[in-house]
Amino acid sequence: MVESATHTRLIVFFGLALAASFSLAAAQDFPPDVTRGRAVYERHCLACHGAGGWGDGPDAATLRVPPTNFHRFTSVLKSDEELLRTIEHGVVFSPMHSWQGILTETERQDALAYIRLLVQQGR
Ligand code: HEC
Repeated sequence: MVESATHTRLIVFFGLALAASFSLAAAQDFPPDVTRGRAVYERHCLACHGAGGWGDGPDAATLRVPPTNFHRFTSVLKSDEELLRTIEHGVVFSPMHSWQGILTETERQDALAYIRLLVQQGR
């Protein structure tokens, strides 16, 4: 009897875990599109973060707070969630403003996918 109760609990647990993973997958309908991400990045982000994501865009020199170099470990090690939150809300007292309302959630995810690609390519 005890054993079957344990089994039931296990089944319920995995059922919930499965349901949770499905609802997470639903939040992002498609995998991020790096081609679209590149277009977003070049239009909105390149001026500060630079063509290769090294934080050396044409506007970088004039900024009080330097744009993040995405190749630095402190940035690379951050989770997608954390970086997406920064893109969504911005960084207070820095030129990195919120992109909510300017870019859709999908565009922000695509831009991040492109940033990750730049870092992966190391250029
Ligand atoms: C006006 C200049 C500017 C523009 C344009 C800009 N950023 Fe930033 N961004 C910054 C600065 C400055 C920081 C660093 C703030 C700090 O060090 O606290 C930053 C930080 C970030 C971070 C956090 C990195 C980390 O490791 O925590 C992300 C992600 C980011 N920017 C993405 C973007 C994306 C995506 C775009 C385009 C949609 C964009 N930025 C456009 C200036 C800019």
